[in-house]
Amino acid sequence: ERGGHEHFMHKEMHEQPETLQRMLSGRLDDRFATARLDGLQLEPRELRAFRRVKVLGCGSAYYVGQMGASMIEDLARIPADAEAASEFRYRNPIIEPDTLYVAVSQSGETADTLFAVREIQRKGGRVVGLVNVVGSSIARECDGGVYLHAGPEVAVASTKALTHMGIGFALLAVALGRVRDLSFADGQRIINGLKQIPDQVGEILEQEDAIATVAKRIADAQSMFFVGRVRGYPVAREGAQKLKEISYRHAEAYQTSELKHGPLALISPELPTVAIVPDDELLDRNLGACHEIAARRGPLVVVTHEGVELGDLRGDRIDVPRNEPELDPLLLTIPLQLLAYHAALALGHDIDKPRNLAKSVTVE
Ligand code: BG6
Repeated sequence: ERGGHEHFMHKEMHEQPETLQRMLSGRLDDRFATARLDGLQLEPRELRAFRRVKVLGCGSAYYVGQMGASMIEDLARIPADAEAASEFRYRNPIIEPDTLYVAVSQSGETADTLFAVREIQRKGGRVVGLVNVVGSSIARECDGGVYLHAGPEVAVASTKALTHMGIGFALLAVALGRVRDLSFADGQRIINGLKQIPDQVGEILEQEDAIATVAKRIADAQSMFFVGRVRGYPVAREGAQKLKEISYRHAEAYQTSELKHGPLALISPELPTVAIVPDDELLDRNLGACHEIAARRGPLVVVTHEGVELGDLRGDRIDVPRNEPELDPLLLTIPLQLLAYHAALALGHDIDKPRNLAKSVTVE
């Protein structure tokens, strides 16, 4: 049932090009340069009326939610943020009628996320789901939603479902944007970008051997930093989470911009840093931070775009293909899946069933 793969996680990572293609088919509308999301059950007039978006999820779903919130802000220009559903449900949240709430969950059974949905509905809010498992509790209880169509995910550490969530957010951002000020040309730009994602994910997966070599090198470190800024920060958070879950190594995600305000004190030859350095408007600043790390002899793994000049910066580099900047987080996340997998493999851990964790936490 693992189809020749040693682990479900490996199989699920490698299924991505195909499952993503399936998710996108039928949802891209070239004629109007928008996304077709009938399951949302929201009329254009209703979509237009929302003045905020609030995303709720747990663990990796929360981090992808953070990526999604910035896509919505960038493309639809609606204030959006993500919060851990496990916190939201306990803090007497203010529910507003003109906020669109989005619950994100692979299993659709995570108790914290489900209770957040109920809290929103009890107070009269509108909540839609981005859910993988068809007919699950969250999918049933939400007021509408988008199925992720990633197929069954068995490994506890989520890979393909997360990428599908990211695509779901991009579609939602385009749909919200196109009933506002996102132009036809920009809508088309993102749609064309999305069409390339499945093959580009495949290209990254082809670099598996090179990424495995890097993973083996850093697997010995007791602790690691993952740094990124703005769009790259949730990518760093997700990368650190994945490593912690299956390699049991300590990993901490930081905003690159915050390094100098404290954590730089920890940089040493014993503490590797994985830096998310896309070729965007923050490239020079990110490279500056990498030089700060290198000057303190901190080992570096730079995840960047093909063609970026790293100059005399020493360390490992992993390249991802270029796409539209708003979609960068989707591709930057893929090498971090492989990195965590191969670190855990080198350490001999039970990759599909890490200690202390369950695939879905259905209890409080
Ligand atoms: C955690 C899992 O308990 O639940 C994570 O270990 C997962 O891998 C999180 O991201 C959320 O799960 P779901 O099913 O709601 O996406």
